[in-house]
Amino acid sequence: MNKLHDFIEIAAELTAAIRAHNHRYYVLNEPSISDAEYDEMVRKLRDLEAAHSELITADSPTQRVGAQPAVEFIPVQHQVPMISLDNAMNDDELMAFMRKLTDALNGELVNNELLLFTAEPKLDGLAVSIRYENGVLVQAATRGDGSTGEDVTHNVRTIAGVPLRLRGDDWPSLLEVRGEVYMTRSGFAQINAQLADRGQKCFANPRNAAVGSLRQLDSRLAATRPLAFCCYGWGALSIAPDASQFNMLQRICGWGVPISPELQQVAGIDGCRAYFDALGERREALNYDIDGVVFKVDALAIQALLGATSHHPRWAIARKFPAQEALTIVEAIDFQVGRTGALTPVARLKPVAVGGVIVANATLHNLDEVHRKDVRVGDTVSIRRAGDVIPEIVGVILEQRPAETLPVELPRQCPVCGSDVVRTEGVVVARCSGELYCPAQRKEALKHFASRRALDIVGLGDKLIEQLVDLNWVREPADVFHLTHEQLAQLERMGAQSATKLLLAIEKSKTTTLARFIFALGIREVGDTTAAALATSFGGLARLMAADAATVMKRVDGVGPVVAEQLVKFFAQPHHREAIAHLQAAGVQWTETEPLPLVSETVDTRPLVGKTVVITGTLSRSRDEIKAQLLALGAKVTSSLSCKTDYLLAGDAPGSKWNKAQELGVQILTEADLNAMQNAE
Ligand code: IVH
Repeated sequence: MNKLHDFIEIAAELTAAIRAHNHRYYVLNEPSISDAEYDEMVRKLRDLEAAHSELITADSPTQRVGAQPAVEFIPVQHQVPMISLDNAMNDDELMAFMRKLTDALNGELVNNELLLFTAEPKLDGLAVSIRYENGVLVQAATRGDGSTGEDVTHNVRTIAGVPLRLRGDDWPSLLEVRGEVYMTRSGFAQINAQLADRGQKCFANPRNAAVGSLRQLDSRLAATRPLAFCCYGWGALSIAPDASQFNMLQRICGWGVPISPELQQVAGIDGCRAYFDALGERREALNYDIDGVVFKVDALAIQALLGATSHHPRWAIARKFPAQEALTIVEAIDFQVGRTGALTPVARLKPVAVGGVIVANATLHNLDEVHRKDVRVGDTVSIRRAGDVIPEIVGVILEQRPAETLPVELPRQCPVCGSDVVRTEGVVVARCSGELYCPAQRKEALKHFASRRALDIVGLGDKLIEQLVDLNWVREPADVFHLTHEQLAQLERMGAQSATKLLLAIEKSKTTTLARFIFALGIREVGDTTAAALATSFGGLARLMAADAATVMKRVDGVGPVVAEQLVKFFAQPHHREAIAHLQAAGVQWTETEPLPLVSETVDTRPLVGKTVVITGTLSRSRDEIKAQLLALGAKVTSSLSCKTDYLLAGDAPGSKWNKAQELGVQILTEADLNAMQNAE
């Protein structure tokens, strides 16, 4: 008996500690122990309960997942209806909302500018109401039609951030908290990766993933989904609430329920606008999707005065960000020819506004992708644009497909030069075989040659290059160095002054580095990192051009057979050797160095040798400078974070990569760490 008494005490202590850590983690965002230590506590409690079932309480932290799936979703009548929000799509509509407020208050307000609002993100998930009786979670329901929702208690209990028992002892005997169930972007990426691994269908976006996960009958499945909850209001309540929305939410937070870390009080329309703009700037960097900002009159007495329509309260408004997804029609699918001849299918769309800009084209990457998504001319498709990312087709609305559409086929001839299109068995990319005979490839090769990380010819932009190729003034890169002032000054939108400026820039670009020159040649598989490694290892161009594949691989760390083969193939072609000779004859030059001793003959002691680094966030210098510094320290710089990454170099506003690095246990470096390494060298 005595022993059981001890166990009860230990279980109570563990329960209290686990709850406290949950609160620190999910509500305060400041965990004080590691995940492993936390898991160990839960395991201990679970073991204890397994041995003594009488210790198990319904609100024990181990009792989140039900043993049996639910049979159906039972309807739940909301005691206080869950109404929706009115939207303001632009600043005029926000102003109209403010005007209506002042009119409705009809002089009750002395100074409209000082009217306080709460401001918080409009999360993109689904609304739920969670009911606590005497501090214990008893029911959770979806919004449904506003008056009747569905019972999802079994699944909401599995959301780690939702307390099964409220903290403290000053909570009302009845409290319904209302908020959004959502999935973080990193959680979404993780769940989709798992689904893809198992060959199952992925979710289109975090919102669908949250809805799909909450609408599972089996809570064991819901428990595997990384769902989160954020409270933004309340329903039935057995006490009088605080005087203000803000203070009431703070109290609810004190009872252990997460609220938005972005929640703020702002004054007047100017305060609302400033908050909206500032959050809009950070929208992409957040780890969750938001589609706007919700403003609510802060004083509950004024809320009561204003009341609600059957649809929405008159004291709140959702100021929406421009939509990042929209529907439109595919008018054509063209094939663009790139620098290396690769044919890229591009969907020509009926122009549509997405994320504040008009989108008329979307890349489809390659033919496999076109077939996987089964996009056809005439289809209605949904387009997504996130931040600066190139618009992409999320999917086809099959119900709206017109009759008699045909699957897209690869053209047999290059749409630009008519040469045969070749596609090797098992390779995704199809290419035009015309090489530099193809004007499209010539244009792209020249754009690459003049680009910032290559010869960096300032002022020789894409449009100009297209004109120069179309006029046949430039057939190969060296021709750029023979352009005359007279020629340039004739071009459209080019005055005598700009022609002089361009000629100066062309002249300046002649003095370059071997790394830039190698990169500028546009050899397949040779990016700027590989070009830099080749330049340092070989020291001179003639040595590189004479090397066979085995020598290249032996000399340069990180260069494998694919790159080596492309290099050898490139330099073996007479027209490439000629083009290089012409460039040198035109005066393109760089300083050559001694070749590095073979890798096997020396021990490279640079601090980041063999380490893979990914860069994220805003740093004090440009990405190119930082990258060069990392390369000089021996690192390999890649863009995608995986378990193979050794370090994440994180600047300000690091975004989702930071969270992913934490999940993968990838060590984080700051710019200061990097500088310290450099100084220690
Ligand atoms: S307040 C009486 N605040 O938006 C006011 N809603 O369009 C009820 N939502 O059903 C809602 N973030 O699912 C409120 N900070 C927020 C919100 C929010 C997301 C959702 C919620 C609601 C829908 C209305």
